[in-house]
Amino acid sequence: MHTLHRLINSVAMASLFTALSACAQTPAAPAAKANIVVLATGGTIAGAGASAANSATYQAAKVPVEKLIAGVPELADLANVRGAQVFQIASESFTNEKLVTLGKRVAALAKDPGVDGIVITHGTDTLEETSFFLTLVVRTDKPIVVVGSMRPGTAMSADGTLNLYDAVAVAADKSSRGKGALIVMNDDILSGRDAGKRINIKTNAFSSQWGALGSVVEGKTYWFRAPVKRHTMASEFDIEKIDTLPMVAIVYGSGEMGTFAAEAAGKAGAKAIIHAGTGNGSVPNYGVDTLKALRAQGVHIIRSARVQDGFVLRNSEQPDDKYDWVVAHDLNPQKAKILAALALTKTRDTKELQRIFWEY
Ligand code: DGL
Repeated sequence: MHTLHRLINSVAMASLFTALSACAQTPAAPAAKANIVVLATGGTIAGAGASAANSATYQAAKVPVEKLIAGVPELADLANVRGAQVFQIASESFTNEKLVTLGKRVAALAKDPGVDGIVITHGTDTLEETSFFLTLVVRTDKPIVVVGSMRPGTAMSADGTLNLYDAVAVAADKSSRGKGALIVMNDDILSGRDAGKRINIKTNAFSSQWGALGSVVEGKTYWFRAPVKRHTMASEFDIEKIDTLPMVAIVYGSGEMGTFAAEAAGKAGAKAIIHAGTGNGSVPNYGVDTLKALRAQGVHIIRSARVQDGFVLRNSEQPDDKYDWVVAHDLNPQKAKILAALALTKTRDTKELQRIFWEY
């Protein structure tokens, strides 16, 4: 019996060894490439200038998405990439209607099991509004990456091709999942919530006062922090339940700013006014009564600041509790406008609005 056991063991060991050595010889099948969709909307990344010296003088929104993709054949090393042209516009011409259309398109793709990530090519002027909007309304963990360029593809040292390559690399990387909408520009991976265009003529145009989330170099992502504010799957906003956005106006603070801009916004039907105040969202003494009167007419007053960094403190420059006003926290006026518009699709209650500005 003992001999029979030893014989069975040795046969088992031999077949196990054969199987293991076979695995060692057969290289593992390469991981399947991610399926990435590039939604093109226009902008400088699709721009064309008259000469290679034209890095800032050119026409935006000229090159179709197929040509953008064909212009970076290395994308095929990263992922299976297909494109769709949603718009072909300069992004200063984005409207609420276009934001909603794009959001619905992204959400539909995110629900498609055959899509692993979405890249949106976009003009840089309002790229920060779109990225914030998408992070607030698209219910997905899949990477959503918004990318643009500061120079047209016809210019010397154009930045669009590498930015697009980087954006696809980030969208194709599983480690990008669950981080909300991202902005990829100039090798930085930035939060779609708090990054924005802070320089209007350089390739390092985009940054956030809270720093980048990570970097992408030679097609590889390197992460150093993650967003803490609510987004995507944790958001209470859902683009599938939104068809229009209420009007929200921004009034820019300055010395001798008068009250006409706020009054005109109220007359035009704005449901909220983002006061882009000097300093910590300051309101001039001659402007307080106008804003109080607008609040009494049902218009919400949200104090942001024209100062790029920092955040507006509640009841600091103004008695917000007493006036029933909201503060925009660290959001710049254009981001505050996006959040206010979405919040007003849910509530007109001031305390609820303020909660939303603390949480997103
Ligand atoms: N017209 C601007 C836009 O489409 C060009 C800026 C850019 O895309 O970099 O946002």
